[in-house]
Amino acid sequence: MDNIETLINEEELQKRTKELAHQIESDYKDKNIHLICILKGSIFFTCDLSRYISKNVKIDFLKVESYVGENSSEIKLVANMLNDIKDDDIIIIEDIIDTGKTLNYLIPYLEKEKPRSIKVCTLLDKKARRIVDFEPDYVGFEIEDKFVIGYGLDYDQNYRNLPYIGYKKEN
Ligand code: IMP
Ligand code: MG
Repeated sequence: MDNIETLINEEELQKRTKELAHQIESDYKDKNIHLICILKGSIFFTCDLSRYISKNVKIDFLKVESYVGENSSEIKLVANMLNDIKDDDIIIIEDIIDTGKTLNYLIPYLEKEKPRSIKVCTLLDKKARRIVDFEPDYVGFEIEDKFVIGYGLDYDQNYRNLPYIGYKKEN
């Protein structure tokens, strides 16, 4: 596509996703895996990651949106498609952790459902932008402070279907 610079190509994405899947599989040898995909950005990552895991996984979906106001942003849960997570070992699947506000909202929300454990797996981590202190359990790539698109990530709802992660070139 025009004017888009590749940051992480398709091969690198798939290789790292496979590594994360194998790591999760070995960490969850004696546990069931219940993935919670955060829509919409994490959809491609969740699909690929889950297919690289060779044991059974459950997959559920939550949709959150953030509204950016003048001085703050507010996170809102807009759809809950969760089955029962009580006593399950859940892994929240995120596309990117930026300020950390989404997870700061989601984790207490999910804790109320009494899962046995909660871990977080994010494809991308933009550490420099963190406002709320948060360390994910599994990270695909740490990236610099750039607005990225593709592989689920959007700019104004566009570009999610790029098979790689990129950013718009300034011209
Ligand atoms: P948070 O700031 O950690 O709460 O992240 C909020 C959400 O902002 C992420 O889940 C993404 O959907 C979105 N986001 C943050 N950085 C980017 C980016 O570089 N590209 C596209 N979406 C982003
Ligand atoms: Mg997101």
